[in-house]
This record gives sequence, C-alpha cells and structure tokens, in this order.
Amino acid sequence: MSFIDLASSSQNFILDAEVPADLAPREALLDRAMGLERKRKSSEKLRCGRLPSEGLALVARDMAGNLIGTVRLWDVTAGAKSLLLLGPLSADPSMAGSGIGSALMRRAISLAAAKGHGAIVLVGDAPYYKRFGFAAEKAAGLLMPGPVERERFLGLELVEGYLGDASGLLAAAGEREPIEHDLGTFRLEQVA
Ligand SMILES: CC(C)(COP(=O)(O)OP(=O)(O)OC[C@H]1O[C@@H](n2cnc3c(N)ncnc32)[C@H](O)[C@@H]1OP(=O)(O)O)[C@@H](O)C(=O)NCCC(=O)NCCS
Repeated sequence: MSFIDLASSSQNFILDAEVPADLAPREALLDRAMGLERKRKSSEKLRCGRLPSEGLALVARDMAGNLIGTVRLWDVTAGAKSLLLLGPLSADPSMAGSGIGSALMRRAISLAAAKGHGAIVLVGDAPYYKRFGFAAEKAAGLLMPGPVERERFLGLELVEGYLGDASGLLAAAGEREPIEHDLGTFRLEQVA
C-alpha cells in the first residue's frame, strides 16, 4: 500500500491505493453511480485492456473499510506527447456531497504532478471539474477516439504550457492487462 490517510481531519473516510480485492466492490459502485452506459463511453476505448497508470488508481473507504469512491488515471498519448486520462470518478450516491469526489480529485492531481506527469484530460461535467482547474480550452487541440461533446472534453496542465502544442487523436499507452488464462497451460491441461 503506497499511502493511507484521512482525507481531512473533519471527514469520516480515508483515501487509499486501489488493491485487487477492490475490483468487485468498485464495479458495483460504478454500476450504482453511473449505470451500464458507462461501458459505452469513448474514454472506455482508451482504458479497455490496459492497466491504470502506475500508482494512480485510488479509492475512498468508510471507517468500516467499505469502498465508497474511486478514481483512476490512464496513460495515453497525443502524437509524441504523453498525457493522463482521468476516469471514471465516482462517489457512493448515498454519500453525495460529502467531499469524497473532491478529495479523490485533489489527491489524484497532486500524485500525478508529483510523479512528473505534464497534464490530465477527461470527459465530464465542466461545472464540476472547473473547481479543480480543468477547462475545455486546454483540450481544444485534442481528439477522442469516438464521439464527445467538446464542452465536456477538458484539460488541466500540471506543467505550465504543457498542452499548448498538444494536438491529435488520443491513443492508449498504458501497460496491457495480463491475460486472464495462460493459454499454453490451458491447452496442456485439456490434452492431459
Ligand atoms: C460527481 C461525483 C463524483 C461528485 O462526488 P461527491 O463526493 O458527491 O462530490 P463532492 O462532495 O466532492 O462535491 C460536491 C459538489 O459538487 C457538485 N457536483 C456534484 N456533481 C456535479 C456535477 N455533475 N456537475 C456540477 N456540479 C456537481 C455538488 O453540487 C457540490 O457542489 P457544492 O460544493 O457547491 O455544494 C459524484 O456525484 C458521482 O459519483 N456522480 C456519478 C458519477 C459521475 O457522474 N462521475 C463523473 C462526473 S462528470
């Protein structure tokens, strides 16, 4: 575990690094908060079959250890430029407005900056994300691999000027997810 701490002394949840045991509760939370439509988003094309960027998959837990929030960032490229794609961000609907989403966003942004990343892009509601510094103008030169409303395609520079000359189609650049079954072993077991 790379970190675990109280999001703030007044809040009754902690931020933590995502671990494999979070997979099922995280999927359940995303289904509750966002519905199954989430799997048809253009961003999904950049995430499918990839692992999140190293150290940039975070969760929020209540004091009983239940997963109540999630955010992930993904390595993508636009031409020769490396960027991070953020999403999905989700907080438990039963705890809406209790600061979980904001705490995850702030921690994700500060970790990404500390790791030396130049910029983050995402597709989401500008009225929510502008509080963290995201703006549509910053992603103006970039294209998603699928339909996207321009006013929802937002960027945040972690290094000043990093997105100034960024242009072109985003492509997945994350490490590939390990294949679930070792086919070689599987075939041998079938023959035996
Ligand atoms: C968006 C989301 C992550 C916010 O999490 P949260 O823990 O409820 O949010 P916070 O407590 O940090 O912030 C609450 C503030 O965000 C605002 N807010 C929440 N969702 C918003 C949205 N979609 N657009 C604009 N403002 C929004 C609230 O009105 C509140 O504003 P206030 O601070 O002025 O009172 C959560 O509502 C969620 O999981 N939604 C479903 C998934 C989703 O839509 N995710 C991506 C967002 S585009």
